[in-house]
Amino acid sequence: MRRSEVECRDDIDSFAPGLLALVESLKPSEEHKFRQKQLVDSVAKSVGKEWPGARLHLYGSCANSFGTTNSDVDVCLEMEIGTESTVEVLLKLSDVLRADNFENVEAITGARVPIVRMSDPRSGFSCDICINNLLAVANTKLLKDYAQLDQRLLQLAFLVKHWAKQRSVNETYRGTLSSYAYVLMCISFLQLREPKVLPCLQVMEPTYTLTTEGTECAYFDKVDQLQDFGAENKDSIAELLWGFFQYWAYRHDYRHDVISIRMGKTLSKQEKNWTTRVGNDRHLVCIEDPFETGHDLGRVVDRQTIRILREEFERAAAVLQYDDNPCVTLFEPYDYEN
Ligand code: GTP
Ligand code: MG
Repeated sequence: MRRSEVECRDDIDSFAPGLLALVESLKPSEEHKFRQKQLVDSVAKSVGKEWPGARLHLYGSCANSFGTTNSDVDVCLEMEIGTESTVEVLLKLSDVLRADNFENVEAITGARVPIVRMSDPRSGFSCDICINNLLAVANTKLLKDYAQLDQRLLQLAFLVKHWAKQRSVNETYRGTLSSYAYVLMCISFLQLREPKVLPCLQVMEPTYTLTTEGTECAYFDKVDQLQDFGAENKDSIAELLWGFFQYWAYRHDYRHDVISIRMGKTLSKQEKNWTTRVGNDRHLVCIEDPFETGHDLGRVVDRQTIRILREEFERAAAVLQYDDNPCVTLFEPYDYEN
């Protein structure tokens, strides 16, 4: 039997309670949420003094329901910036935040999405602030809406994000994948599962549309009407977690395929024109952004880190298949460089 056709162990479901207990321990507490809100309020106060018309949106995991006790706070400021460039506004914002006693304030202007990063001594959180990046606000809503469809998505994503942090494969600056990319991988996996756990909201009649920077973000967002969608699939979280790692270890076609939650199926690299290397984009693992369809979240992965990632997927699948205590062994801290 090929490894891609292996069936999971008979007692896999016995690990579900342990995994669900871990999920519960990763959920942010009420106190955590309160401190996050305090941070957002103090950012709003600082920003309001200099830019009274600015609107503040939360995005990323503090707003998409995939936030854990380790998550930072991501804030997007929507504002008219006139003749100034985004970078000039970010530099001014850095000064404003420093004057208001935020710590480690740093403008990261060379990134694809320029941000100010800082930490708040009062709440202890770190915070990224971007300007007019409404695409991130839209994809935050999309992820949040998916999360409301079937609780197994949140559970799976919490476990995968925790695994990725513990195994040091959640660091884009070192060539591994962002939390956002891992959540897209989880959604895609649940859309591809038979019977399907999740529908594809972007191929349905749109009930929500936001157009920004020439990109239309449209999808069916009346998720309360789809509550029974995944009911036919009875897989436990343990079986799904094993299936997720099995898929990324042995079943995904890295050479030809692109995962796309926008289409609810895999696309070919050929049709995306992601076959040849352009600049630093190597397309060794292809994860299409649901709205910025030209954007491959896997572009950060290089020849060395694709190997590390695939070895980690294989290890995870093997641990869930054979280990006596997979709920512990799977998440053992490890850094491939030490
Ligand atoms: P944690 O902070 O690790 O809990 O996860 P997160 O969900 O906040 O994800 P992350 O910090 O990786 O990204 C924050 C948000 O930025 C995402 O939820 C997206 O809305 C947005 N985003 C859009 N494009 C990208 C991208 O290419 N990379 C990353 N990292 N984020 C993107
Ligand atoms: Mg974040």
